[in-house]
Amino acid sequence: MLVDDKIFLGTSTQPEYLALKYGNRHGLVTGATGTGKTVTLQVMAEGFSAAGVPVFAADIKGDLSGVAKMGAAQGWQTQRATDIGFTDYKDDVFPVIFWDLFGRQGHPIRATISEMGALLLSRMLQLNDTQEGVLNIAFKLADDEGLLLLDLKDLRALLVDIQERSKEISTRYGNVSATSIGAIQRALLVLEQQGAENFFGERALEIADLMRTDRDGRGFISILAADELMRSPRLYATFLLWMLSELFEELPEVGDVDKPKLVFFFDEAHLLFDDAPKVLIDKVEQVVRLVRSKGVGVYFVTQNPVDIPESVLAQLSNRVQHALRAYTPREQKAVRVAAETFRPNPAFSTEEVITQLGIGEALVSVLEAKGIPSMVGRTLIRPPSAQVGPLLAEERRAIIANSPVAGLYDTTVDRESAFEVLAKKARDKQLAEERQRQDDEIKKTERTYQEAPAPRRSTRQTPAEAAMNSLARTVANRLGSALVRGILGSLKRGR
Ligand SMILES: Nc1ncnc2c1ncn2[C@@H]1O[C@H](COP(=O)(O)OP(=O)(O)OP(=O)(O)O)[C@@H](O)[C@H]1O
Ligand SMILES: [Mg+2]
Repeated sequence: MLVDDKIFLGTSTQPEYLALKYGNRHGLVTGATGTGKTVTLQVMAEGFSAAGVPVFAADIKGDLSGVAKMGAAQGWQTQRATDIGFTDYKDDVFPVIFWDLFGRQGHPIRATISEMGALLLSRMLQLNDTQEGVLNIAFKLADDEGLLLLDLKDLRALLVDIQERSKEISTRYGNVSATSIGAIQRALLVLEQQGAENFFGERALEIADLMRTDRDGRGFISILAADELMRSPRLYATFLLWMLSELFEELPEVGDVDKPKLVFFFDEAHLLFDDAPKVLIDKVEQVVRLVRSKGVGVYFVTQNPVDIPESVLAQLSNRVQHALRAYTPREQKAVRVAAETFRPNPAFSTEEVITQLGIGEALVSVLEAKGIPSMVGRTLIRPPSAQVGPLLAEERRAIIANSPVAGLYDTTVDRESAFEVLAKKARDKQLAEERQRQDDEIKKTERTYQEAPAPRRSTRQTPAEAAMNSLARTVANRLGSALVRGILGSLKRGR
């Protein structure tokens, strides 16, 4: 049943395989809660890994982490293997790298603000069009003035700078109102409260680290801990979308491949599209379409195919549809839509069967020879070979400690960027003003000194005094104003 160039998914009236050479033609795993989606995802991830294809998947409930541990099949797993005559079924374990945006359950994943870009950041911050316009200007300005936008404090510093120079910037780039800047600043605050402070900065994720294979030639399965992240769904969705667009931008064109370069599973994919603006949907559609020729397969996992916009859905060729409920009219419609996406099988009514499927049973249709979708098959999905269900915390820790990226991302690097540059600019400005004031003061003192009636002494400065004052000025020029104040004070006291 296990064959080199395809992944065994399960058995209908025949074994059903996902052909590796069509692995980059994208896919869809759908079904109501508890119908077997995550297990199917694990089966696919194991299959790709075994074939040397690296995988990236978000782990919403922590239940995918078991793929890192040798399975000990019993109960439903061995039962299912027997039911489908899967004679070469055996326990196995797969190489895993754990990632976590918060850096707790895996290596931190970071992006810089510039990499994230204005479109995705606006989505993350829920900005309206006007505010997005201002954010665009901020990015443009940073570009023009050579300011690096790495972390959130860079962006905050830039916004303050823009506010101070709003007149000049408005004439050069277009209107930047204080209201819009204020709104962006508030949205940034909310983002920080969601813990996003950690996501932005360096060292930023390098795509190459998602594309590793182990010594046996197996693809690493990168698992992003997403349980905590899911509490901020928009953040989750935008971050995954950013990763997808990074893959698209970084990877070379490869055309048709024997097997994908990487497979990306997008769980809870509906979050990406919930009230998403048209520009964003267009961008997703475009990235999904183009990333294929870079050898990347994208698999959306969601409850219902209607969660996904038509234009994106049309590109998802390898499909596994678990059971759907059809109690309400809306659900019935969804079932109809789901059924229509399959190439019919004369042996049964797709629409009827969707509601009758058991747990771990699914309608499967994949691309076959010449890239034509196979006739839909009512399929019992095979059991995974690794552990099904979460790892223990200490098992996870051991894997993190021995990971091939251990130590690479675990500490934050903060190099000079917009925040530091603008802070220096502000400091220099303040210094210059301070110096000016000191100079004026000194001049004034000198004048008073000269003008004051001096009964016994000459009204002129003694050479020593003049040297003192000029020394004070020189020192003032060289050192910070705080220091200068101290020095002047002691000079005065000393006199
Ligand atoms: N291929 C299978 N064969 C036999 N039983 C299965 C199979 N797949 C899943 N099951 C059973 O169904 C349970 C739930 O599966 P799974 O966690 O994959 O559902 P899900 O669709 O991801 O649910 P949720 O929407 O809650 O995440 C499994 O723990 C297992 O007991
Ligand atoms: Mg699940």
